[in-house]
Amino acid sequence: MKTQIAPVSEKFGTLLLGTKCSSIFSLDRDEVIDLFKSSNLLLFRSFNVNTDKFKAFTELFSTNFMAYIGGAYNREMIKGDKTLLSVTGHRLSFAVPPHGEMYYKKNKPQLIWFYCATPPLKDGETTVGDGAEIYEELSSSTKKLFSTKRLKYIRNYPKAIWKEIYQTDDLRVVKKICDEEDISLRVDQETYAIATEYLCSAVVQSRRESHPIFINNILPVVEQELQGKEASLVRFEDNSKIPDAVIDELKEVTDRLMKPIQWQTGDILMIDNTRLLHGRRSFSDNQRDIYVRLCNAAFPF
Ligand SMILES: [Fe+2]
Repeated sequence: MKTQIAPVSEKFGTLLLGTKCSSIFSLDRDEVIDLFKSSNLLLFRSFNVNTDKFKAFTELFSTNFMAYIGGAYNREMIKGDKTLLSVTGHRLSFAVPPHGEMYYKKNKPQLIWFYCATPPLKDGETTVGDGAEIYEELSSSTKKLFSTKRLKYIRNYPKAIWKEIYQTDDLRVVKKICDEEDISLRVDQETYAIATEYLCSAVVQSRRESHPIFINNILPVVEQELQGKEASLVRFEDNSKIPDAVIDELKEVTDRLMKPIQWQTGDILMIDNTRLLHGRRSFSDNQRDIYVRLCNAAFPF
């Protein structure tokens, strides 16, 4: 590959640096895939792309683009495309703790693509970290806790909210989606409010090597609860809370291991959502405009 490449961090990620006259479409697809598989994250920088080129490029490597149905937040569509979305809290500036994308349901996207339309003036980095490395750094008691107890993601939504989340006002459609995602659904027959539960492990096995990966949505959900929002909760299967000391440990380990990506206009970030966690640092301006696409790999993965 003629393009200049460099590691993003010691353990994972590759930066591919273009020039003003190099087209991102001249990159060798097989080489890009090999680099992605070996480093789990690619950052394409200085390739002179726009939103349409971002979309076309992602389509060379991806399939089954998802519309974020059943997601945790409202996202805005970009250019009327349900599979090209603003990131969480478009033009809002709160920090998002490290998480795997949509680990509160069975069918998670394998890949996440981000595109930086406009970087923040300051701060607002996206953070990325290796779930295998995070698992290794956990204490043996915490490893044991998460290997013996499954998580339960609990949601309670009035009709006005689930209509947005599931992008329908038909409860039969909601039921079908929940069935496909192994989510249990209860409906209040008077108010049509719904309660859902999804059980899973906080730790998954890596798809290529056999080692454990700590990847889940514990930290963002706990953060929301701490802020007094109780529509979405995470507990163990027996309804017990995850102990505060364990949450503190997860924060300490992820704070230490997550690496910041400082956005530049036109950056494209490709992340293995089966392996890497991502998050966001807070920021204080109204410039930051990052788009996201969630999908599966269109190559052996
Ligand atoms: Fe996310």
